[in-house]
Amino acid sequence: MAGERGHFGTRLGFILAAAGSAVGLGNVWKFPYLAGENGGAVFLFIYLGFILTIGLSVMLAEFAIGRRAQRNPVGAFKALKGGPWVAVGGMGVFCGFIILSFYSVVGGWTVAYAVKSATGLLANGDAKALGNAFGGFIGDPVEPLIYHALFMAVTMAVVAKGVHGGIERVCRVLMPVLFVLLVVLCIRSVTLPGAGAGIAFFLEPDFSKVNGAMVTAALGQAFFSLSLGMGAMITYGSYLSAKVSLPGAALWVTSLDTLIAVMAGFMILPAVFAFGFDPGAGPGLTFITLPAVFSQIPGGAFFGTLFFVLLAVAALTSAFSLIEVVVAYLVDERGIRRFQAAMGAGFVIFILGIPSSLSFGVWSSYTVAGKNFFDIMDYLASNLMLPAGGIFISLFAGWVAFPKLMEAGEGGIEKSFRLARIWQAICRYVAPVAIAWTLINGL
Ligand code: PFF
Repeated sequence: MAGERGHFGTRLGFILAAAGSAVGLGNVWKFPYLAGENGGAVFLFIYLGFILTIGLSVMLAEFAIGRRAQRNPVGAFKALKGGPWVAVGGMGVFCGFIILSFYSVVGGWTVAYAVKSATGLLANGDAKALGNAFGGFIGDPVEPLIYHALFMAVTMAVVAKGVHGGIERVCRVLMPVLFVLLVVLCIRSVTLPGAGAGIAFFLEPDFSKVNGAMVTAALGQAFFSLSLGMGAMITYGSYLSAKVSLPGAALWVTSLDTLIAVMAGFMILPAVFAFGFDPGAGPGLTFITLPAVFSQIPGGAFFGTLFFVLLAVAALTSAFSLIEVVVAYLVDERGIRRFQAAMGAGFVIFILGIPSSLSFGVWSSYTVAGKNFFDIMDYLASNLMLPAGGIFISLFAGWVAFPKLMEAGEGGIEKSFRLARIWQAICRYVAPVAIAWTLINGL
């Protein structure tokens, strides 16, 4: 333990916490519907390309900046260099508000679906009825807000108390169970009659269909899913002692997150085709498809409930990391007590989430360029701010802080890291150029 900062006890504990941040709704809810909207396999391959070339390197950069500085994102840029770089951390804190506001709305949907599965409301396996049920639920002005409030309340309570230790222990048990359930559901989905078209859609790319918007979406999803670009991994790295190998941890977290996204694709897309849903249905895709899959397995109500409970837990562990960026900033830089910081930030985020929730119902007609409030929040944060944050974090690691980040004894990256020069070159040139090029093309 260095100083008064709480630290992760073990390498496994840290990897699980960082993976807990990365694995969440981004994998199970967002990835399948984005792949469905953006040509399936083409999206998958571009996404994987971004993870390998950019995601892994930015992940290592964030871990290293956090561990070296032992601060929240704002404090870390201040401590390592200062000047305008501090704004990168500030943008990260702002992103934490924006992303959690709509993330919690969807987190609420998962809680609601756990309840609905348990009470038999989803027992009717008719595809059309399931679609209508979902549309009716998210379009309701009140019900989803109650679940959004519940989701935020749990997030605030846990982060206010700083009881991550307990959460870590719970996750160690629950996440492997979620993983096993995902395997079972993948098998059920790909063996449904008519699933073949979905498998082909997900695995056989047609690169003639590539367009700028699709590439931007894949880049944004790579950042969103790996929790990169806003300092969440800087914050977690700052709770890390010098014993853990950072490149190894970055590789583990990235691989695990990618594996789960690909599995979610296999769980949803073949079933979408088997049941005749529209792969471009958007944010509701997972929620209308999964109940249909559950209706096709024995004990579906039980497994459906279990699955949505576990998904809610996975979403919560991601939500903790989102609000922790804000709370760590308020505590470290503003001297606010943890409890007050968590309550205040959580309340503002809850309020900010209300228009997102209403944009599926009473406010659905308020749109800009075809996007409702929810879409705009998501687009701004995921497709613009996170990748922009990624540019600056890469440049900072490659050009400004590289020598400091390599000071092994001071919490930098260990001496045994042989690929340091390649990593530096990616941070200096490859990642910033590729991200900037994608952003410009998307606009
Ligand atoms: N990575 C999370 C997911 O895939 O669900 C979402 C997320 C968490 C994004 C933390 C950004 C972040 F800083």
